[in-house]
Parts: sequence; C-alpha cells; structure tokens
Amino acid sequence: MKAVKEISYEIVETSNIFDPRNPELGKIPGGRRCPGSRLVVMDESVDRLFGSRVRKYFQFNGIAVKYLTLAGGDEHKTVDQMLRVASRLTEVGTDRVGTPPIAIGGGVVQDVVGMAASLYRRGVPYVRVPTTLLGQIDGSVSAKTGVNYEGCRNRLGTFAPPPRTLIDRSLIATLPERQVRSGLGEALKMALIKDPYLFTLLEEYGGQLVADRLQDTGTAAASRPGREVTRRAITAMAEELQKNLWESDLKRIVDYGHTFSPIVEMTALPELFHGEAVAMDCVFSAVLAARRGLLPPEQLRRIIATVRGIGLAPTHSMFGDADVMNQALTDTMRHRDNHQYLTLLRNIGDTVFADDITEEEIRATARAIDRLHHHPETNAADLCSTRLAGTPH
Ligand SMILES: NC(=O)c1ccc[n+]([C@@H]2O[C@H](COP(=O)([O-])OP(=O)(O)OC[C@H]3O[C@@H](n4cnc5c(N)ncnc54)[C@H](O)[C@@H]3O)[C@@H](O)[C@H]2O)c1
Ligand SMILES: [Zn+2]
Repeated sequence: MKAVKEISYEIVETSNIFDPRNPELGKIPGGRRCPGSRLVVMDESVDRLFGSRVRKYFQFNGIAVKYLTLAGGDEHKTVDQMLRVASRLTEVGTDRVGTPPIAIGGGVVQDVVGMAASLYRRGVPYVRVPTTLLGQIDGSVSAKTGVNYEGCRNRLGTFAPPPRTLIDRSLIATLPERQVRSGLGEALKMALIKDPYLFTLLEEYGGQLVADRLQDTGTAAASRPGREVTRRAITAMAEELQKNLWESDLKRIVDYGHTFSPIVEMTALPELFHGEAVAMDCVFSAVLAARRGLLPPEQLRRIIATVRGIGLAPTHSMFGDADVMNQALTDTMRHRDNHQYLTLLRNIGDTVFADDITEEEIRATARAIDRLHHHPETNAADLCSTRLAGTPH
C-alpha cells in the first residue's frame, strides 16, 4: 500500500496581532469551526506582558477560549509540561479539527504545545504564534515538535507542522537583549550556510539589531535591517525545509551549528541559550573547516568578528574540551544513521559535506578553540596553524 499526504501550511506576516480588529489570530485554519472552546496556551512572560490584550481580543471577537500558562526556558521543555497541555485539551473539550489550540510563546512553548497537539487524538491541528526571535525565524518554519528527555535535546518528539503560523515582529520589542542575541545566532547560521547578503547585514548591523530589537526605526533601508534579516532568515529556512520536510535526507545544511552544540547545551543548561550554543558550534565548525584548508582565514576572522558584533561569545570552555567534542560528534552521528554528514564552510554562504573527520582533527580544533577561549585576541590565521594546535596555552 502506498498513501500520499500533501502538506501545506501557511506562515502569515501580520502586525498589531492583538488588535481586536485584526482577524488573523482568531481564524480557524481550513475554516471548519466547532462550537466548543479553543485552548490558548501562553508563555508566562507573554501572559504577563500581553495577557490582558489577548483576553480582550477573544472577548471582543466573541471567540470562546480557555487558557493555560506555561513557563519558558529549556529546563521546562519536559514530558510533564507536554502532558499538562494534553490534560487541558481534554478539560476544554478540544474537537478533532474545529477547535485548534493556539500556542503563543517562544520555541519552548511552541515545541511543547505542538507535541501535545500532534499526539492528542492522534493529531489535532494547532496555530503557532512565536514570540521570540528564535521562534520566529527558525521554529516558525519547522515541522518539528518535541521535548527534552533523559538529558537529551528533543529526544521525544514528532513531525507535525501546524497549518497556520502568525509572525508579528513587534512582539520581539519586549524580548530581553540576551534572547535577541540568541535568536540572531540562528540567523547567523542561515547566513553562513546559504546567504552571504544576510551575513553582511549581520556583520554591519549586529549591534544595532540587538539594540533596536529588530524594530524599524525609520523608513530608510538602513533603519530597517531587522525586517530584512527576519525575512531573509525565514525564507532561507523555508527553502531548505520544503525540499526535505520529513528529513528523509539526513544530509542537511540547516544542521550547521547543531552538531557539537546539543551536548554542551544540555550539560550547561540553563547557563546557555539555544542560539548562543548554536553560534559557538558555528565558530567551532568554521575553525575546523579553516584548519582543513577549506575556509579562508579571512572569512573565519569575519565570522568571529560578527559573532562578537552581535554580542555573542564565540566559545565556551566545553567547546575547547576535545573529549566532549568527540563525544558530541558520536552522539549526533546516531541521529544521522551513523554518518557524520558534517556541514563545512568553503566560504560564507557555500558549504560541503564531510564524512571523514578524524578524532585528531576534532582534538586539534578543540585546542585552537581553547586557545581562543583563553586568549580572545588570537587571530584567525593562528587558529588555523598546525603549530598552535600542539602548544598548550
Ligand atoms: N521545532 C523546531 O524546529 C525548533 C526550531 C528552533 C528552536 N526550537 C526550540 O526552541 C527552544 C528555544 O526557543 P526560545 O529561544 O524561543 O526560548 P523560550 O521559549 O524558552 O523563550 C525564551 C524566554 O523568552 C521569554 N519570552 C518569550 N516571548 C517573549 C516576549 N515577546 N517578550 C519577553 N519575553 C518573552 C520566555 O518566557 C522565556 O523566558 C529550544 O528548545 C529549541 O530546541 C525548536
Ligand atoms: Zn536551532
């Protein structure tokens, strides 16, 4: 037997999403409506900042809803939290199609609610309203849901794209600066693997993007880099996912920055945010590529400078620990059917896959990163030199 299921889901850019006269938030994907209530799950901070506007919105529009508030942060991305959503779906009386829940929050709330919805009655549709930069430029396009389990990131999860995702960039205006920087870590990843122009925007406007929280400060192009960065990052992600939504091809350039970081992220939780760890992995992998003679040192220099310009740290002590890095690669290979399929940069915006990285190469890269960690002034050419790799700091 062979069955084909066509998937289509929309990502809608809107503004003033909680304005009662904006119909987007209340729309039911597919148009089928049941008389019952819909569950609205809000992130704790979102509830504090926007909760009263959200409540007014549904009241004004005569849409029956009930609420659940969940904590954000990866330490709360748990099975228990996911089951709380499932229980609440029952209390609310969620139907098969006509009362899709709405998740308003960062990547954590999106992943938790998405997973609950995908399991509930073997799958009910849901609506996603990402409120963090990371959620808007990365999670928004993704088909994946999940929770962390037994110390592993996203160990339990499903493929379940919601039929509707709403993006309102103004929601980012209340985000703490550190969260904005973390989100830009994912934008940097997209830039490095496929969009040199996006990279130049991050290179030129890194600090400004953070200070303005990607909001427009005027109408001239130079006062709107946030708009361009958001759109380009989302478009690039959508292009990549569209051709491989179910990840039947395990060679994915979008996994750049996600090979060595998961183990560090889980071990260092809650000290490190996702995008922070991703940016560090991007640097580690760039050093590896440069040491192979693939990436020119000058490009490596620009990458590290841009990471710093955004206000992100290029390294963490764990990336300088060769044993941890080798373990990270081994763990990630299990996720890639025992292949490395490591994306390496040949240039900013140009990649190649490697499947022959040696343990010694990882060791030498970790030594170079350790050097960068302890001596931030180390220049890119020195990071690539074989001599340095042998010298203890
Ligand atoms: N499904 C996917 O494909 C996918 C893609 C990218 C990331 N993710 C997941 O997303 C998670 C990270 O997401 P995140 O960075 O959004 O973290 P998060 O959801 O923990 O949110 C970060 C913090 O920001 C707060 N917050 C949210 N919106 C706010 C707003 N508008 N104003 C002020 N504060 C706000 C939250 O309360 C939280 O404290 C990770 O678990 C990652 O695995 C999943
Ligand atoms: Zn990511």
